[in-house]
Amino acid sequence: MTTRNRIYFIGFSGAGKSAVGRRTAQLLGWTFADADERIVARAGKPVERIFAEDGEPAFRALERAVIAEFAAEERVVVSTGAGSVMHDQSLGGMLASGLVVALEARPETIYRRLSHAAETEGAEAMVRPMLQADDALGRIESLKRERQAAYALAHWTVHTDGLAVEQAASEVVRAWRRFGAPSAWENDPALAATVTVDSGAYPVFVGWETLEADLGRRLAESGFSGRAYIICDGNVVHPYGRAAQRSLHAAGIEMGLFTFPAGEESKSLATAAVLCEWLAKCRAERGDVIVAVGGGVVGDLAGYVAATFLRGVRLVQVPTSLTAMVDSAIGGKTGVDLPAAKNMVGAFHHPAMVLADVSALRTLPERALREGWAEAIKHGFALEAPLVDFYERNAGALLALDPGLTTEAVARNAAVKARIVSADERETSGLRRLLNYGHTIGHGVEAAAGYGAYLHGEAVAIGMTGAARLGMAEGVTPSGVAERQASLLAQFGLPQSYANVAPEAILDAMSRDKKTTAGQISWVFLDGVGSAVSRRGVPQEAVERVVRELGE
Ligand SMILES: NC(=O)c1ccc[n+]([C@@H]2O[C@H](COP(=O)([O-])OP(=O)(O)OC[C@H]3O[C@@H](n4cnc5c(N)ncnc54)[C@H](O)[C@@H]3O)[C@@H](O)[C@H]2O)c1
Ligand SMILES: [Zn+2]
Repeated sequence: MTTRNRIYFIGFSGAGKSAVGRRTAQLLGWTFADADERIVARAGKPVERIFAEDGEPAFRALERAVIAEFAAEERVVVSTGAGSVMHDQSLGGMLASGLVVALEARPETIYRRLSHAAETEGAEAMVRPMLQADDALGRIESLKRERQAAYALAHWTVHTDGLAVEQAASEVVRAWRRFGAPSAWENDPALAATVTVDSGAYPVFVGWETLEADLGRRLAESGFSGRAYIICDGNVVHPYGRAAQRSLHAAGIEMGLFTFPAGEESKSLATAAVLCEWLAKCRAERGDVIVAVGGGVVGDLAGYVAATFLRGVRLVQVPTSLTAMVDSAIGGKTGVDLPAAKNMVGAFHHPAMVLADVSALRTLPERALREGWAEAIKHGFALEAPLVDFYERNAGALLALDPGLTTEAVARNAAVKARIVSADERETSGLRRLLNYGHTIGHGVEAAAGYGAYLHGEAVAIGMTGAARLGMAEGVTPSGVAERQASLLAQFGLPQSYANVAPEAILDAMSRDKKTTAGQISWVFLDGVGSAVSRRGVPQEAVERVVRELGE
């Protein structure tokens, strides 16, 4: 949706469009307008006479023209006539130029409200015949049903049955802040995605050789005026930590830089404590920002520090590994490992901005690059079929880090992750869980082999292979899908079987994974390319057989 300073209310008569619209306008300090009143003013006669004398098409044409007028006005809340959604072009004009909010209410509620209004102030002309019908409630129900498909196109729906006008209006203001507020970065050509979560929205910028040119500039443009604390590891401080430093310096932002030893072992409470003490010594304040420059280890650790130091300071993610660019830097999961298990202590803390300079992949060790592709391939098979076509067409160029195509691949992956996180921020609807495709067996292999024997992405590739076979055995995954996946994984040099690990150890690690609920593993299978589904109750014998076969 293009985000603009306009809110349109649609919905049935009696759903509260005028009252809630007026109050919403007051809360935002905007103007309130009634579309029907504007039509009447333009026509110079009441709605009934337009219908009677000029016919419905003339009314709808006027309505379209009036919506086009609103689309050119700023900071306006519009209450539309009950039937305006029945005209594709009117609704299309609204959807393209503002936030469309549908107010919903049950037929009984509508009937009650309209009867009350009819008694007290005389209902509008269009409503009276409806109320006078023999079966008024039935008439409301059937009219509502006709329009339901159109109402469902709204960006946001508020059910007003149990709500006072004030509550409904604040709900709408909240929705506008979340989905509609225009952002400074909206037209930025480097914008790959916007992540929209409860705490606000943030941009993901993806480009080639952009770190030094853009980091400081973008922070300064966002109105930031505090100090920056760059956190990176020993492998990325040269050149990326230093480039970040120069970029901030050029933008006039004061900064400090901390480097810790590279590697998963650093992702610990102990390193987090060291970082917090460093920040305290620097007298870092709530208005400052932590800039995480590095792979997933830096991002998770610095993110966890940002989530907890002073109960939360601003965070900017500058991912330098492929895994971090397509996965860990986006989505707000931060944390550290305990000796017992990875990612055991953590917090949700979204960055204020993600800036991925894809050219950093030129120095990433080849094995780390390949494992990053595993997650990217996973995004395609689980959620976005066109990505799979794109990889198949461009595998060679992507592996050779062609600047344009690799940047496009990262940007498209960032967009997939951003879309899923925005729709299911905390993994409550089940959507975000689909990103775990390949991870059930993958985590088992990773843990049983001893961390490091298989890199995470390699284990995920083995896990995707296992999930495809299990999905086939369960009659969910078509064999053609499994074949396409196998050949793409092979093209990117990713493993599809394991060696030197006991299958029992993998099965044991799987049963201890935190993703099981009530002892049952919830599996993610493909029922098509780009289409993941979750399934419970998969027979243990089938799981055991597939896990064993993966080792042969
Ligand atoms: N938060 C999340 O949602 C999420 C998602 C996936 C993974 N993760 C976490 O991310 C971590 C894995 O991420 P990773 O693979 O980036 O690990 P990593 O940060 O350890 O990076 C891999 C190696 O590459 C080096 N490196 C990074 N960028 C480089 C570059 N441009 N040039 C040269 N060297 C570079 C690092 O120093 C490290 O040695 C794990 O801890 C995992 O748990 C988190
Ligand atoms: Zn993963």
